[in-house]
Amino acid sequence: MLITIPNVLSPADVAEMRAKLDAAEWSDGKVTAGYQAKKVKDNQQLVENSPLAVELGDKILKGLARSPVFMSAALPLRVFPPMFNRYTGGGRFGTHVDTAIRQVVATAQRIRTDVSATVFLTDPSEYDGGELIIEDSYGEHSVKLPAGHMVLYPGTSLHRVEPVTRGARVSSFFWIQSMVRSDGDRTLLFDLDQSIQKLALEHAPDDPKLVTLTGVYANLLRRWAEM
Ligand code: NI
Repeated sequence: MLITIPNVLSPADVAEMRAKLDAAEWSDGKVTAGYQAKKVKDNQQLVENSPLAVELGDKILKGLARSPVFMSAALPLRVFPPMFNRYTGGGRFGTHVDTAIRQVVATAQRIRTDVSATVFLTDPSEYDGGELIIEDSYGEHSVKLPAGHMVLYPGTSLHRVEPVTRGARVSSFFWIQSMVRSDGDRTLLFDLDQSIQKLALEHAPDDPKLVTLTGVYANLLRRWAEM
């Protein structure tokens, strides 16, 4: 499932984060890439666990906590501390699949990367290129969102970032270990949950059909969730 979630960050949050990121010291993105990805990765990153990355990452985590759609789509068990990258001067990231298991720096915590996330921090008007291209069995999907918006996609997908040929593309990226490992199962739960939410606007809370569907959701989640 590929889903975009608007306004995870307010314009004020984005402006504040951008001011800090534009003044930050960036390092070579290859340091956190796996063997295959290293060869196709050409971008810059904030050092993982640096005070600025932690401060801005917390802002993003707070934004996620306010988003019912994020909770419903990702069913998060653990969220990797958000990282930050910058593409400029032709920088790109060729086709790759994200590392399956990531260790959180300076901790024993490991996260299975079921869901990949990108929060855009620059508006599309500020740069040319830089589309996130995600492949699935239906073909390629091009994603380039307004600042403050987020995309979620399966960690299992092949994806790439096209060269940035004007300006700079700044974003946050991270992963979620979901309580529900399978993208297909998560998609069923998301569709069911979203339909129940819509039905709840039109029916009394004790409508037996709504009660039954809500029970089906709870019981599927109970069946599939790993914690
Ligand atoms: Ni990736």
